[in-house]
Amino acid sequence: MNEMVIGMIGAGNMADALIKGLLSRRVLPPDAIWATNRSNRERLAGLQARYGVQITPVKPPLLEAASIVVLAVKPKDTQEVLDQITGTVRGEQLVISVIAGIPLATLERALRGIPVIRAMPNTSAAVLASATALAAGRHATEDHLQTATRIFEAVGDAVTVPENVLDVVTALSGSGPAYVYRLIEAMIHAGTDLGLGGELARRLAVQTLIGAARMLTESAADPGELRRNVTSPGGTTMAALGVLEERGFAQAVRAAISRAAERAREMAREYAPEQP
Ligand SMILES: NC(=O)c1ccc[n+]([C@@H]2O[C@H](COP(=O)([O-])OP(=O)(O)OC[C@H]3O[C@@H](n4cnc5c(N)ncnc54)[C@H](OP(=O)(O)O)[C@@H]3O)[C@@H](O)[C@H]2O)c1
Repeated sequence: MNEMVIGMIGAGNMADALIKGLLSRRVLPPDAIWATNRSNRERLAGLQARYGVQITPVKPPLLEAASIVVLAVKPKDTQEVLDQITGTVRGEQLVISVIAGIPLATLERALRGIPVIRAMPNTSAAVLASATALAAGRHATEDHLQTATRIFEAVGDAVTVPENVLDVVTALSGSGPAYVYRLIEAMIHAGTDLGLGGELARRLAVQTLIGAARMLTESAADPGELRRNVTSPGGTTMAALGVLEERGFAQAVRAAISRAAERAREMAREYAPEQP
């Protein structure tokens, strides 16, 4: 992996998380990572100050240096970026897009013949705990997929999926950390409303999340079984779960994830309109 040079086009939350993860796992030295953005020079300088990566306000030096070009811009900026890099990206480079919703076909149409892989990581890459799904394009070889897998395995778990499930992946695990943060926020607020100090409520809620996550990863039991194990008939947990179900907890989660997947498809139609 040592000759690999990654060029991040887009220097926002996702690029920051990936850079942090790749450096902390020593996948690459800081000078083998380049970053550029559109106009926020302060943000770019911040990345350099924090991580020692190479930054450039324009794309040509990054495209010259990179063996892997990561597209980490918002869906609405995809076409602009494709217009800017088409013709400059070379056939021996690999393009990895983490952009939600934008299909491989759109990327491949612009980047004629260039190998492209779509990746859907999440921001937990910053703490080496991303859940990432990868889908390979027409020109991506098994080697390209392995390279992308190694990058994303360095910052968490990585799986390969067919592209047609990426919108659901985006909705489940791409946006997923925010749902978990929302749950923890609500638990902390409930704790403080009911008399706990804020720090104490946070500490207990966060450790509960960590403990439950570890139970899930370290035991063979499925979540339903673990839930039933802590739910004694007539007890406090059962009383709480009853309220959640009465208020449509599972349906709300289902509707939220379904809406996020639909939003990914809408974004593809909005920002990749030439798609059939
Ligand atoms: N955040 C997440 O949890 C998450 C999870 C999975 C996937 N993603 C995907 O990752 C992508 C980036 O998300 P984000 O949260 O990192 O967004 P963000 O924080 O808004 O960052 C977007 C970056 O793109 C840059 N940019 C826009 N147009 C550009 C151009 N023409 N050339 C170069 N850079 C350009 C912006 O530069 P300026 O600041 O200078 O405008 C900014 O640095 C999105 O497509 C999103 O779907 C995000």
